[in-house]
Amino acid sequence: MTTKPAAAPPTTNTHLIRWVEKMAELTQPAHIHWVTGTQQEYEMLCDKLVEAGTFFPLDDKKWPGCFYARSTPTDVARIEERTFICSLSKDNAGPTNNWEDPDVMRKRIKQLFTGSMKGRTMYVLPFSMGPVGSPMSQIGVELTDSAYVVVNMRIMARIGAPVFAEIDKGTHRVIPCMHTVGAPLEPGQKDVPWPCNDLKYIVHYPETREIWSYGSGYGGNALLGKKCFALRIASNIARDQGWMAEHMLVVGIETPPDANGRTEKTYIAAAFPSACGKTNLAMLIPPAGFDGWKVWTVGDDIAWIKPDASGQLRAINPEAGFFGVAPGTSDKTNPNAMKTLARNSIFTNVALTVGANGKPDGGIWWEGMTDTPPDRLIDWCGNPWTPANKTPAAHPNGRFTTPASQCPSIDPDWENPEGVPISAFVFGGRRPTIIPLVFQSFNWSSGVYIGATMGSETTAAAGAPVGKVRRDPMAMLPFCGYNMGDYFRHWINMQRNLSYTPRIFQVNWFRKDANGHFLWPGYGENMRVLKWVVDRIHGHANGEETAIGWVPFFEDINWEGLDIPRDELRKLFDQLQHINPDAWKREVMDHEELFIALHDHLPAQMVYERELLICRL
Ligand code: GTP
Ligand code: SPV
Ligand code: MN
Repeated sequence: MTTKPAAAPPTTNTHLIRWVEKMAELTQPAHIHWVTGTQQEYEMLCDKLVEAGTFFPLDDKKWPGCFYARSTPTDVARIEERTFICSLSKDNAGPTNNWEDPDVMRKRIKQLFTGSMKGRTMYVLPFSMGPVGSPMSQIGVELTDSAYVVVNMRIMARIGAPVFAEIDKGTHRVIPCMHTVGAPLEPGQKDVPWPCNDLKYIVHYPETREIWSYGSGYGGNALLGKKCFALRIASNIARDQGWMAEHMLVVGIETPPDANGRTEKTYIAAAFPSACGKTNLAMLIPPAGFDGWKVWTVGDDIAWIKPDASGQLRAINPEAGFFGVAPGTSDKTNPNAMKTLARNSIFTNVALTVGANGKPDGGIWWEGMTDTPPDRLIDWCGNPWTPANKTPAAHPNGRFTTPASQCPSIDPDWENPEGVPISAFVFGGRRPTIIPLVFQSFNWSSGVYIGATMGSETTAAAGAPVGKVRRDPMAMLPFCGYNMGDYFRHWINMQRNLSYTPRIFQVNWFRKDANGHFLWPGYGENMRVLKWVVDRIHGHANGEETAIGWVPFFEDINWEGLDIPRDELRKLFDQLQHINPDAWKREVMDHEELFIALHDHLPAQMVYERELLICRL
């Protein structure tokens, strides 16, 4: 073995030490670094990244503690066609996942990982998804040859010494997560700022609970605690143990104080596909007309949800940071996000501002940050850019990595090891037509049907063509680690152990008019919809029964503070809520497509719900 012996490992767990040795033999790194998670270590790694040209430090006055990174133009998003669920049987992965025989895949992956870390440091990165020590948390160890991954993971998860201490208790199953950028360095070979490989594999073995990621250094492909662990592997663990791992934000909505000064806080969890508004909704600031209302952020992307001893569903956010879409984020659309990311953050694939000399001046910009773009920028590819350019200055999936603790609206209970009680689930896709602004399901099973048949226009988050409506059940299409039909059954079955059944709603912020403009102003104004949701949960609001579910009457929505005449509002509301039976019949035909693919695993309730919907239409 060529690897230099590391300093004494900061763990007594012989399993872990032996595994690290074995993996070092396979990948042949030049060094092994056991990650302690200290601020000092973080700064050392950032310095190293600056030296390597991966990081560019931003101006400490404008962006204190912040760094800028630019990836290779071919490594900018998750890649669904290179993501595999290698369960023992193909049937268990189901038709919505890429599958390969695990024996075949293991051979291929082992070959790729052989010597893949040559000339690099292998970081041993222990992490806890969820607060360290929470009964709802899970532990992993990522072995990675990317310092960029380590510093991002330090923001996104709890890492280092406290997690080693937790592992050393010997009572946790630790999920092994292998990651390499797949760019070994020969002696004397000069490194590039963003090493990666054209060949990419994001592989999950659900039965043995392993992750092997090859060739990418970006986002969910490389920060393995996030989508790979907290959704694809965790959805398997959750099914086995009777809980739920969901692509959901969690917020607490607090009423103004009543006559006795008491307020009421209602937590909801909401699933939207990638780049469809979770981070924005999670940090919503109530608009004019909502004096005293507060929205508190628990999480913006992933929720782990479990029934407590009394049968109440409770949720934790397994993450510690936000890996948010930068373009579109501004002081107008999401001021809380802007305040959060103002310091100690990492920006990847956005644009750099320049000074009079045309050189970077330590500032950044992305589309939508300001109404008018600066005259000159350096775009996310490193090229000079002016507003005359046809291509965007920031990549549409350019992102910020920022600590959740810095969020002004962070919920006082966001790290409560017991989680927060969930009163409702909300599903929302990007639908230019057909789907109204809001409706409520009749019951749990019709609500599961709504989630299961949810559609959405594709976005830049998946590195594939954008703007085409596809079925994305519960926003989990790229993230469910087993057969989607069994996942629907798990949803149906969850209700049996509950003393309180969360209400289920669908929303659509993205309905367009005949000219292709969004009908609904969205963002903070979504509070008007959330209030109806909360009122319905507590039985305080009316609703009208329709073929698809319960909808609000115009009078049930608080319109206060909107600068639009009443009769125009009424017209807008009618357009937003319009249910076209013919369009809905076609919509239901589209549901069939997914159901046919899943037929042998589809729970009977989904078929009944579909028949009932057709009859009502
Ligand atoms: P992931 O991190 O990929 O899971 O995305 P996300 O679901 O957190 O989406 P995010 O909140 O980052 O929003 C993605 C894009 O949708 C941004 O460009 C937003 O500006 C836009 N968006 C968010 N909320 C609304 C809304 O209410 N209306 C409209 N029209 N656009 C919105
Ligand atoms: C998503 O695509 O849903 C994300 C970004 O949240 S990533 O972490 O890259 O999956
Ligand atoms: Mn996401």
